[in-house]
Amino acid sequence: MLDIRFATARSTSGAVAVVVPSGSPSAALDLLTPLKLGPADLAECETFLGDVEHTGSAGSVHALPRPGRRPARVLFTGIGDGDEAGWRAAGAALAKSARSEPSLRVLVPSDTPSDAIRGLAEGLWLASYRFRLAESEPDPLRRVTVAFPAGTEVGDGLIEALEQARAVVTATVLARDLTNMPSDRKTPAWFAQRVVKAAEGVPGLSVEVREPEYLKAQGFNAILAVGRGAAAERGPRLVELSWRPRGAKRHVVLVGKGITFDTGGVCIKPLAGMKLMRKDMGGAAAVIGATLAAAAMRLPVRITALAPLAENALGADSMRPGDVVTHYGGVTSEILNTDAEGRLVLGDAMAYAVRRLRPDVMIDLATLTGAQGVALGKRTAAMYSHSDSLAGDLAAAAEASGESVWRMPLSEDYAEAIEGDLTDIVNSTDIGAGSLLAALYLREFTGALRERWAHFDMSSPAWSDSNDGELTKGATGWGVRTLTRWLETTAA
Ligand code: BES
Ligand code: MN
Ligand code: ZN
Repeated sequence: MLDIRFATARSTSGAVAVVVPSGSPSAALDLLTPLKLGPADLAECETFLGDVEHTGSAGSVHALPRPGRRPARVLFTGIGDGDEAGWRAAGAALAKSARSEPSLRVLVPSDTPSDAIRGLAEGLWLASYRFRLAESEPDPLRRVTVAFPAGTEVGDGLIEALEQARAVVTATVLARDLTNMPSDRKTPAWFAQRVVKAAEGVPGLSVEVREPEYLKAQGFNAILAVGRGAAAERGPRLVELSWRPRGAKRHVVLVGKGITFDTGGVCIKPLAGMKLMRKDMGGAAAVIGATLAAAAMRLPVRITALAPLAENALGADSMRPGDVVTHYGGVTSEILNTDAEGRLVLGDAMAYAVRRLRPDVMIDLATLTGAQGVALGKRTAAMYSHSDSLAGDLAAAAEASGESVWRMPLSEDYAEAIEGDLTDIVNSTDIGAGSLLAALYLREFTGALRERWAHFDMSSPAWSDSNDGELTKGATGWGVRTLTRWLETTAA
């Protein structure tokens, strides 16, 4: 990760960025004072801002080379209204514009608030993310100095904001790394091992990895059914990561779909629908990431993250359409489509959470349906909840953190569509409304938590086709930011 630190602005021969608020380029010119440019050079900067018609819109960058022979470049960078999102966009734009500079000093006003620092740092770090299979040369840009005018007192709030950003980004980077990893390497056991490693040495964190024998003995039959088509060394796991701080009053359970590859099983997917299915554990990656971020921030709320992990493979022993499974806790389900496997593994894990962990709130995240992206496009996750207050809090957390969600209805008139002839429920129907029906299936496993549960179908925002703002091409780590922000407010 980039080294980001605070300092006092001074004259430099390296690259410099100056933040430009919407509609007031003159504020940016004031920030140039410590560079000790002559009047002619300052005039050049002013003319330049006018010539390029810099509006200060969030994330816009205009670079002026060598005013007064030094600094090397001045990157005038818009922060829009100066809210966290504006600074995040500025940070992301700078990570790209200054990628090949050896270092960068970002000149900021003395009254820069902490949420601006959080946005700037998150933008810089998230947009400079790269997925690599092996160690390789990092980008030239290694250090960013956030430079305040002389005499500025850098308060604890700013230092804390930088640490919060670091915690969230570290967790998002882990979630992206896990999700980007090709599925030949990414077995359930490999994923579980990565969680064990990430939690190692953090006081208050513990990990439990359940193997197939345990799952069998305890009746996690749906997780086993989904994992049965895969080779033994690629068999299913259930990971339970717990954060138990002293004095916690609330217990939150986070459940994430962890399909390490989704072929569709016997109901095999065509290539177009299958080729990106290594991302089908993005929900599991996000709930693990958010729990690690909460631990790094030492949030005073108990959290249990559950990741039911399985490869939905095609094999001699794969589950078949028409097979019947008894979920953990006893709900029976007819598998009408082996490609609707996410709700199967989640059902077991959610039933376990409700019966054994007795949380105050339960939230699940899953790359659950193609229908989600049809409804909401590439960037926005679908959110389902019976609780207006929980949905409202989660929507606010998403908004503040820079992720996008849209609340969808749990329409009762579709509830009977999942009723089975032979079983309590069926895992697939052919009446459309795919994302809603999957949510209604999961609802069957919420028990007493029905009104204190939220479900995110984040199939499409888990992945980005291009570098876009703070997102990089490939896995986005969607959900780490929303969940962590929500946990911060819940804990407060
Ligand atoms: N993992 C897929 C959903 C998915 C699709 C995620 C595209 C991300 C991008 C899921 O397991 C699946 O196959 N869902 C089926 C459900 C259907 C068989 C009821 C779908 O959406 O077609
Ligand atoms: Mn599937
Ligand atoms: Zn799937």
